[in-house]
Amino acid sequence: MNDQARYRRLYDRLAPVYGPALSLFPMWRRYTEAALPWLPPSGAILEIGPGPGALHRTLAARYAHTVALDLSPGMLAQAQKRLQAAGLSSGLVRGNAVRLPFAAECFDGIVLTFAFSAIPDGAAAVAEMARVLRPGGVIALVDACDPENGNRVAHWLARLWERFGDFMRDEAALMRAAGLAIDEKREFGAFHSIRLTVGRKPSVQVGDSRRFA
Ligand SMILES: C[S@@+](CC[C@H](N)C(=O)[O-])C[C@H]1O[C@@H](n2cnc3c(N)ncnc32)[C@H](O)[C@@H]1O
Repeated sequence: MNDQARYRRLYDRLAPVYGPALSLFPMWRRYTEAALPWLPPSGAILEIGPGPGALHRTLAARYAHTVALDLSPGMLAQAQKRLQAAGLSSGLVRGNAVRLPFAAECFDGIVLTFAFSAIPDGAAAVAEMARVLRPGGVIALVDACDPENGNRVAHWLARLWERFGDFMRDEAALMRAAGLAIDEKREFGAFHSIRLTVGRKPSVQVGDSRRFA
C-alpha cells in the first residue's frame, strides 16, 4: 500500500472519533485559531487537511468563498455534517496536498492546522501551495514542532509525534525555498510545542512584466 492510501485509511478510521476527542481539549481549538488573524479579511480561502472541520466552520461563516481539501473521505464527511448543522456550505474536495487540483493563483489565503506534519513530502506540498496562491496571498500554518528554545518536554513530544508517523520540520525554510517571504514565526502553547508560520507570496515576482507596465 502506498503512503497516500495508508494515510487515507488511517484518517478514515480516525474520522468518527477525532472531532469528539479534540473537543475534550479546548486548547487545541485555540491553537488552530492562531492562524485566523493572518488570513486576508476577504477573498478565496483554501484549508488543507481540515479533518472534521471545526476550524473550517469558522472559515465558511467568515468568507464568501472557501474550499476544504482533505485526503480522507471520512474526514470530509464529518466536515460536511458540521457545516450542514451550522447552515453553512463550502467546496469540499478530496485530494492530496502535493497535487492540488486547482489552477495557479486562485486563492488569497491557505490555512493548515496540524495537517502539514502528516504530509510526507513537505517541500512538494509547499511548492503546490505557492503555485495556487495569488501574489500577495498568505499561507498560515499551525503545527506541532521541536522548538528552537530546546524545551526538553517539547523535544520529547516531537520525537513521539515522529513515532506516530508525523514529520517535524522547519516550515519557514521550506516556504522560503518556495519563494515566499516569512511574515511570522512564533512558538507558543504548552512547552512551546506549537509553531505558527506565516508565509507570503511576493506581490511582484522577479521578471514580472507588470513591474514595468
Ligand atoms: C491531524 S488531522 C488535523 C485536522 C484539523 N486540521 C485539526 O487541526 O485538528 C490531519 C488531517 O490532514 C489530512 N491529510 C493528511 N495528509 C494529507 C495530504 N497529503 N493531503 C491532504 N490532506 C491530508 C488528514 O486526512 C486529516 O484530516
